[in-house]
Formats: sequence, structure tokens, C-alpha cells
Amino acid sequence: MTLREILKRAKREKWAIGQFNFSTLEQLRGIAFAAKKNLSPVILGLSQSEADFFGLEEAISLVKALEKKLKFKFFLNLDHGKDLNLIRKAIDSGFEAVHFDGSSLSFKKNLELTREVVKYAKKKKVLVEGELGYLRGESRFFSKKKVKIKKEDLTKPEEVEEFVEKTKIDSLAIAIGNVHGIYPTMPKLDFERLKEIREKTDAFLVLHGGSGFPSSQLEKAINFGVQKININTELRVVWRKSLEKQLKKTKKEVKPYLILPKVISEIQKEVEKYIFVFKSRKKLC
Ligand code: G3H
Ligand code: ZN
Repeated sequence: MTLREILKRAKREKWAIGQFNFSTLEQLRGIAFAAKKNLSPVILGLSQSEADFFGLEEAISLVKALEKKLKFKFFLNLDHGKDLNLIRKAIDSGFEAVHFDGSSLSFKKNLELTREVVKYAKKKKVLVEGELGYLRGESRFFSKKKVKIKKEDLTKPEEVEEFVEKTKIDSLAIAIGNVHGIYPTMPKLDFERLKEIREKTDAFLVLHGGSGFPSSQLEKAINFGVQKININTELRVVWRKSLEKQLKKTKKEVKPYLILPKVISEIQKEVEKYIFVFKSRKKLC
């Protein structure tokens, strides 16, 4: 099954595919093991900074190796791509999808550049995700900060049709109150707006900033027509906490292969929770 076929099926059957970001091998393995165990499709996300650190080529080779070993298909997405050269590189080197993030640009410039990415990606049958609206925050844990969402940041339903038609994107990332990162109080999602957006387009809808939202909100977003949900911060938090716990527990141990398996299994468990919420179990064999 191609990623497009999976997204179409998710849309028809009202479930979502998770995009889980990674920047360490423990995270990559945890995500891959969770997907294989649950026969769930997953998208492996690499943002520009994550790709800079991990390496595009390394990611592709390791994903291929995991696919061979686990006999399971994974999909790679360049997440929040802003640099057109890096996006082209990801397309040329075998990513199944790319996300062009033109959210800080004017509507006109965003449309123009997104269209350019689509033109390039179509030749290689790579899916393109565009973005309308501005998402606050970043993928980390904020212990005090209160997140303030401005109405003008949210996706304007009246812009959706023109943007999707003129750019010919496959998926659209939307801002409906979702934020990057985890805050002590999470905002409420604007489901009325989501409904309006859904009525304006047939494109797959993507909810970024899935971490920290109660599962009931994520389930509701799926029922209102979201097909892809991005999770990053939660996996970063689990990675750090479980690593700290293992280092403390194993005291002076220096052998990584005695310390890291538990970190991998904790990340796996976290991904499995989301697979359950997204209802993506047993959709791939
Ligand atoms: O693109 C990645 C995400 O939108 C992740 O957001 O860190 O809040 O889960 P998050
Ligand atoms: Zn995002």
C-alpha cells in the first residue's frame, strides 16, 4: 500500500496515521517496533533540525534496514521544511512525503512556493503537505509558560479552497488551536473551524502539535476529518525521562546496550498508546 492509499483509507474509515518524529536511534527503533507489533502504518518524521543532526542519508539507510529486518513498510516525511534545497534533496533521496511550511509567509508567497514544491515532488510521486495558519510554540516541555493563541493565527476556512486548488497539495496542515509542545494548560481545539475547513476541501487534513492534548480531543479531531496527527514532544520527554531513570538505576554502568533497551521499550509503549487512540492498528500487514 502506498501512503496515499493509506491516507485515503483512513479518510474513508475515520482513523488517522501518526507521524512520530525522531532524532535518535532509540526513538526510531521504539516507533518502528510499536508499528510492527500493532501492524499500524506510521510516518517517520524528521524536521530540518532533526535531519541536520541525524542525517538524511543515515535516516533512509536505517529505515531501509529496519524495513528489511522487520518485514514492514515505513514512510518518511520531511517535516516543517522551509529550505527548498533540503526539500528537493529529501524528494530525490527517497522520502515518501514532504511538508513545506510556508506559515510565516504571506498567503501569496506561501502559495507560490508550495506550488513549486508540488511541481517538483509530483515527478517522483512524493506527497506534499502544505500549511495554512500559524502554529505557536516548539516541540518541548513548557513548565510555566501559558500559551496564547491569536485568532489571526488560525486557518481561515475561506482561504482553503483556493490554496489547495492552486497548489495541488495532497495534505493540508491546519491551525485550529493546536500548538507545538506541551504546556501546563493545553488550549481547546476549535472544532467548528475544523468542520468548516473539512467542507472546503477534499485534501487530507493534518493536525500538528498532537502532544499534550487529551485523547478525547484527538479522537474528536479524527471524527471531524483529520487523517494525520503529528507527535514529537511526548517522545522527546519519554526519551529523556527514561534515559535519566536508566542512568540512575544502572549507576556506573557504561555499556550502552545494557542501558538503552529500556529507553527503546518506553518509547515503544508511548507510540503504542497513540496507535490505539488513532485507531490505526492492524491496517497494514
Ligand atoms: O511536526 C511535528 C509536530 O507538529 C509535533 O508537535 O511536539 O507538539 O507533538 P508536538
Ligand atoms: Zn509540526
